[in-house]
Parts: sequence; structure tokens; C-alpha cells
Amino acid sequence: MQDQNNDSKGISRRNILIGTGALAAGTAVAHLGGLIKPAEATGGKTEKWPWPYEKLDPAKTAEICYNEWYRVFCGAAVINSVFSQLREKIGEPYISFPSDAFVFLEGGQVGWGTICGSPAGANIVANLIIGPRIAGDEAGHHMATDIMQWYSETTLPTFTPKKPRLTAKLPTTISESPLCHISVGKWMKAANKPLKSPERKDRCTRVAASTAYELVTMLNDWKDGTYESTSDFSCAKENGITGQFNCMECHGDDVPQAPGA
Ligand code: HEC
Repeated sequence: MQDQNNDSKGISRRNILIGTGALAAGTAVAHLGGLIKPAEATGGKTEKWPWPYEKLDPAKTAEICYNEWYRVFCGAAVINSVFSQLREKIGEPYISFPSDAFVFLEGGQVGWGTICGSPAGANIVANLIIGPRIAGDEAGHHMATDIMQWYSETTLPTFTPKKPRLTAKLPTTISESPLCHISVGKWMKAANKPLKSPERKDRCTRVAASTAYELVTMLNDWKDGTYESTSDFSCAKENGITGQFNCMECHGDDVPQAPGA
């Protein structure tokens, strides 16, 4: 691997990206053992993390997210819906954070149908604010698993914008998965609408806004000290492989067993 540790900017950016990459692998990573050490000082500077948070209005955040989707799609819209407000309320480091860089989360990362950009964006936000997974405090990971489970089990979208671009009533679906491919696919089947239809776009917009709403609700509870993790699933622990809870949906009756499980 290329070493980019030469300057302090390089290391903090690299570590942010490693942190979010680990999140994409999801809840299982939190239970695989081994703890992340705080970044080493480089050139006299250490990275500053976690970042300060002030409580936000979930409905206002969801409205911002709804409009941002039409500019930068799901992942960056969720990130921007929170960080644009924290830029105003707090300033740095939110001003310098390039939220638009996360436009690549669209379509389950550049159209590859992996993790939906909405939970991916939410988990980036939650973990920047809550901080590293160090001994005794795994709250960031807990919130990320809660987001993944909430997204998978909820009839989405839950949020309806004040002034929707599309007034037609859109169907709602349960994905049973955080994967874009499955989430969008089940909805398109239920709605009988193609990927490029305005209905599908507005559905994903509302899913992003619903996720932003949920994220800020969780962060507000966390800020108040009343946040309690609700997710109860760890695939790595239960099945010896990273993954999702609905094995049979993909494997049918013949669910393989992981070596050592
Ligand atoms: C989103 C679809 C999906 C879900 C959900 C899923 N799997 Fe898989 N899994 C696959 C695919 C695709 C492969 C690779 C092809 C294959 O071997 O079937 C795979 C491979 C595996 C393997 C590697 C061994 C092998 O035979 O390939 C194991 C073990 C496994 N899955 C177990 C599970 C378990 C246990 C669950 C539920 C906790 C689960 N899977 C849920 C799609 C899925």
C-alpha cells in the first residue's frame, strides 16, 4: 500500500477514509476484536476527532436532505443535511469537510448496488461526531448498526417533504437489507417503475430524507445522554461471517456454514 503519511493533512484524511471504509463493512467489524488506536502524532499534529455536535431539528434536516438529493444524491445529501447546519452553528471542522466528495455513494457506490448511500452517509456523520472505537466506548459503532438495522427493517420512505416535487402517492417497501440493489429493486417491483423514472428518484430522495431524520433523532438523544442502542444482530458473532440477517433470501434453504462457525 502506498504510504501517504508525509504530511499531517494526508494522515488525517487517510484515517477518516479508513474509518468510513470500515463502517461500510458494517456492524460485524465492531465485534471482530482488536481496537483502533488513536492516530499517531505526525509533524507535531494529531487529528482532532470526534467533532462537536449541537442538537438539530430532524424535520428541518430531512427537508434540507430532500433538496440536496437532487444536487448530490443520497450519501452526500445525508452528510450535507447535517454538516451544512453544523457549519453555521459550529464552524470548523465542518466548513473544511468536503461533503460533496461523497457523491460517489450514489447508487450503492457509483451504481454498484452495494450499501445504500443513505445509511453509508449517516454512518460517516455518526462516527465523525461520536468518535473512535476505543476501549469502553463503542457508541459510534452502535449507532451505525442501529442505522443499518433501522434501514433494513423499516417501511420506507417514512418522511414526506412539505413541498414534494412529485405529488403522486409513492408505494413504501421494506428492504430487509441495507444494499441499494435490494432496496431499490424491491421498491421498483412494488411500484412497477423503472430506475430512471421521476417516481423512483423521488422515492430515493425521501429514503435519504427519512434516514437524515432518523440520524438526527439518534444524535439528539445521544447528546442528551438518553441514547440506547436498539440493534441486536451481529452476523460475525452469530454466523462466523460478515453479512446480513436474512440468509435464506439469497441462499434459499441451503445456507452455507462458514469455516469455524
Ligand atoms: C444479499 C444476499 C446474501 C445474504 C443476505 C447472505 N448471503 Fe451468504 N453469500 C451470498 C453470495 C452471493 C455468496 C457467494 C456465492 C455462494 O457461495 O452462494 C455467499 C457466500 C456465503 C458463504 C461462503 C461460503 C459459500 O458457500 O460461498 C457463507 C458461509 C455464507 N454466505 C453464509 C451466509 C449466512 C450464514 C447468511 C445469513 C446470516 C448469509 N450468508 C446471508 C449472498 C448472501
